[in-house]
Amino acid sequence: MSIKSRGRCGPALCGAIIGLALGALAAPASAGPTERDYLARLVKAGPAELQAAREAGRKASFFCANCHGETGLSKYGEVPNLAGQNPVYVLNQIDAFLAGKRKDAFMEGLMRVLNAREKTDIAVFYAAQAATPAVPVAGQRAAEGREHFMRNCFRCHGEDARGGENFPRLAGQQADYLRRSLNRYLKSSAERTYPPMTAAVTVLGEQNIEAVVAYLSSLK
Ligand code: HEC
Ligand code: HEC
Repeated sequence: MSIKSRGRCGPALCGAIIGLALGALAAPASAGPTERDYLARLVKAGPAELQAAREAGRKASFFCANCHGETGLSKYGEVPNLAGQNPVYVLNQIDAFLAGKRKDAFMEGLMRVLNAREKTDIAVFYAAQAATPAVPVAGQRAAEGREHFMRNCFRCHGEDARGGENFPRLAGQQADYLRRSLNRYLKSSAERTYPPMTAAVTVLGEQNIEAVVAYLSSLK
């Protein structure tokens, strides 16, 4: 990738710039070890090897930093934080973008330029970064949101909303992003569909989305 700019560009502008660059690139051949192979190796590896992978991930994520922030704390409300996110979840989402199961024209194109090693290094780098609440002071409806969360969401996302391999961390996530994602699931929009989430948000009720967003975005 020939884009070296570390300057600030908004999601739309960055998307346009890199979209042009991507047009010239062919998808890399996918022979050799997969992300899962690399991740499995890292899980068994010693701390030095893991640290080296995180360092490589920090470097490989220089372009991601334009939107997701230097340490995975995003710069824009509609861009998700990746700090503290589970690496397996992150790799699964990258695959979903590539497979067109999750639709975002920009992310889909960008993921094509990363090889399996880079994806894995980036995922373990972000996983090791400290997550901080997107909203430092809990909004008025946070307490109410907690009740809804404990009733409808915690069995998958965990009591502390920190998720796991198959469930995203939600604690501290950007409020705009949470709001938009929940509405997408509610409406089974083409960008992102996952029936169990549609069921959960339907039970939650559209009128309670704001309360849950206030709660989750203020968690550590
Ligand atoms: C131009 C801004 C931009 C850049 C640069 C960017 N992203 Fe994203 N990324 C987004 C947006 C916006 C979304 C949310 C898309 C959606 O709503 O589905 C996203 C979503 C993601 C997600 C899903 C997170 C979740 O919580 O489900 C992952 C993983 C991700 N990006 C990884 C990366 C990586 C790795 C890079 C660098 C190689 C990168 N992104 C570069 C804007 C960007
Ligand atoms: C049956 C298990 C389950 C339940 C219950 C559940 N979720 Fe989820 N949730 C998931 C899974 C799995 C995903 C990732 C799905 C995908 O890949 O699109 C997800 C994704 C999300 C996302 C997108 C996060 C991101 O980083 O992109 C949000 C926000 C979310 N859930 C919030 C909630 C809330 C709020 C509730 C309760 C009203 C809830 N979930 C209930 C399993 C669940």
